[in-house]
Amino acid sequence: MNPIFANLPVTVFEAMSQLARDNNAINLGQGFPDDPGPLDIRQAAADAVLNGYNQYPSMMGLPELRQAIATHYGHWHGLNLDPTTEVMVTSGGTEALTTAILAVVEPGDEVVCFQPVYDSYLPVIRQAGGIPRLVRLKPPHWRLTEEDLRAVFNHKTKAVLFNNPLNPAAVVYPREDLELLAKFCQEFDTIAICDEVWEHVVFEGFKHIPLMSIPGMRDRTIKIGSAGKIFSLTGWKIGFVCAAPKLLRVCAKVHQFLTFTTAPNLQVAVAYGLGKSDEFFKEMQTDLARSRDRLAAGLERIGFPVIQSQGTYFLTVDLSPLGLNETDEAFCKRIVHDYKVAAIPVSAFYEEDPVTTVVRFCFAKKDATLDTALERLSDAVHRR
Ligand SMILES: Cc1ncc(COP(=O)(O)O)c(C=O)c1O
Repeated sequence: MNPIFANLPVTVFEAMSQLARDNNAINLGQGFPDDPGPLDIRQAAADAVLNGYNQYPSMMGLPELRQAIATHYGHWHGLNLDPTTEVMVTSGGTEALTTAILAVVEPGDEVVCFQPVYDSYLPVIRQAGGIPRLVRLKPPHWRLTEEDLRAVFNHKTKAVLFNNPLNPAAVVYPREDLELLAKFCQEFDTIAICDEVWEHVVFEGFKHIPLMSIPGMRDRTIKIGSAGKIFSLTGWKIGFVCAAPKLLRVCAKVHQFLTFTTAPNLQVAVAYGLGKSDEFFKEMQTDLARSRDRLAAGLERIGFPVIQSQGTYFLTVDLSPLGLNETDEAFCKRIVHDYKVAAIPVSAFYEEDPVTTVVRFCFAKKDATLDTALERLSDAVHRR
């Protein structure tokens, strides 16, 4: 069997979810909300499945969804995308990422990735014959530096895979970091595959800036989005790929043999959802920020050093000042077993030289779930 996949370990999400089930624990590990999602968008999907839209839709996505994506990004981010040549619909952000990597990377190409790294990137890059070049980001700021980029970029750098806002670190990158990355992409003629699935889950005081909007990046960025994250409907798996026609044409050729199309009723509903008012999106951010603050305040009361969450469904805590004398992984195993709360060790997002002191909690849960988790953890910092 192909060792790239055969030798992959069980993902940390599966392992921790299994431990959560085995221990009857509250699962603050995996990142999905525990409410059913916006009713009117679900209703639009149900109506569409009953009233048509059940055969293969267009390979590139329903025209009304491609138009809605272009209009949405024009309104929110000032991007000027042609829906007929620069927008494609995929089965989730995951397919969009695989499509983009296979479209760009050839054997021997180097691809810059940032650790903590989302788990699908490296196996797919390797399957394409690419060679990952890893940058190690560090808490508490996880910022890009000129020195780190200079160490990995060179004339073999075909692509960079950049996740912003960054899961699991919950950072929303400022313009300064994007301009730095853009400078390297232009110096080394590198294509940026920008995983922006968390673009709408950004909290007050922070602003999502698409890398594509930075001068010089419009025609060398493949921008990836996910309706699952935008609408808190993570099981829907509707992804977006936006890129200049020259890049999108090749992505489409990969997509045609990965999935070819995506459930049309869900596409109709996502097109409807993308047109919702600014208030809808702001309210969603406010609700999530409230949950973030509830969990952060509770964890701080217990004594956990919480690192600020700027976006995503996650917040992280840094264990290092606590003197617990255990790794993030040992800590997560201990709390799922002893306190019945599951979290994710951030070291699992590193392939080499991991940061081993940071733990990720998902706050996209009901108040009662968060409160029970906090109650259970109340002496986790002190009692060993
Ligand atoms: C950084 C990142 N990229 C991609 C994805 C996958 O998106 P989708 O569920 O639309 O496939 C996720 C999901 O958690 C993610 O966090």
